[in-house]
Amino acid sequence: MEYITLNNGIKMPIVGTGTNTYGKENKDYNGALTNEIPELVTALELGYRSIDAAISYRNEELVGGILAESSVPREELFITTKIPAREEYVSSKESTRAAIDNSLKNFQTDYLDLLLIHAPIEDKEQLKNTWKVFEEYYEAGKLKAIGVSNFRKNHLDELKEFAKVKPAVNQIQINLKEKNEDLLALLQDEGITPVAWGPMKTEAHQQELLDEIGKAYDKSGAQVLLKYQIQRGVVVIPKSHNRANQAANLDLFDFELTAADVEKIENL
Ligand SMILES: NC(=O)c1ccc[n+]([C@@H]2O[C@H](COP(=O)([O-])OP(=O)(O)OC[C@H]3O[C@@H](n4cnc5c(N)ncnc54)[C@H](OP(=O)(O)O)[C@@H]3O)[C@@H](O)[C@H]2O)c1
Repeated sequence: MEYITLNNGIKMPIVGTGTNTYGKENKDYNGALTNEIPELVTALELGYRSIDAAISYRNEELVGGILAESSVPREELFITTKIPAREEYVSSKESTRAAIDNSLKNFQTDYLDLLLIHAPIEDKEQLKNTWKVFEEYYEAGKLKAIGVSNFRKNHLDELKEFAKVKPAVNQIQINLKEKNEDLLALLQDEGITPVAWGPMKTEAHQQELLDEIGKAYDKSGAQVLLKYQIQRGVVVIPKSHNRANQAANLDLFDFELTAADVEKIENL
């Protein structure tokens, strides 16, 4: 595993696993919760240590239970979760504190590695109050890093007006369909680590070219796609319900894409 160092010195695995459909009927985001996540058990066995969770996914307690029961020591895990930008969670400092305390309980831990605001909070006062609570828990050591998700430049600018602690991460959609190049460049300029959600999404013609590029490295198109992102400093959190794909998505550290192949991917 390779790590990326966040702007506060904390190291984050450059590949993690998403969890948004884990433990749900029909692998459906809105599906009823089942009481098991064999894919997460497999992910831990295969070597995943960074787990991307969220309160909105409804499965935090289940994910947390599996992590707590696993033989992987807490200090090896990198647990991310997210506070929804909804009244219930951000209408007051008390509601944000209660949400964080509940997530700590769900993960049976006394600290989270990374907490994100899941989406922009349009009300400025609520945004400020939420971030101030994040900073409070950060200063207390209960959050090792704090950040945001789905923030555009204007949202980041608003946050800057009062933030004492700069966001360590912005988790945004980055894939070959939604390249988000301008925002990505801004984040990298400002020292905010980009984390790509939905990294596997491609158009059919793009997939064909990725598969073609992969042949020279004895890798699949999916592996080429993930390698392209991590090679340029983008953290990826692909989600898979399939053991072979989970293994493939971690098997990225024994090859390097040539500049010519990177250019081909950039031009897709
Ligand atoms: N912050 C946000 O607003 C936000 C929004 C969306 C998602 N997320 C996070 O990002 C994570 C990842 O995004 P995502 O789940 O939307 O999509 P994703 O990881 O881009 O794509 C998942 C799909 O890719 C397939 N796949 C994975 N590895 C593969 C491989 N090696 N070869 C072929 N197919 C492969 C999976 O199928 P199989 O199961 O068959 O492998 C699954 O259908 C989520 O789980 C969640 O944690 C965050």
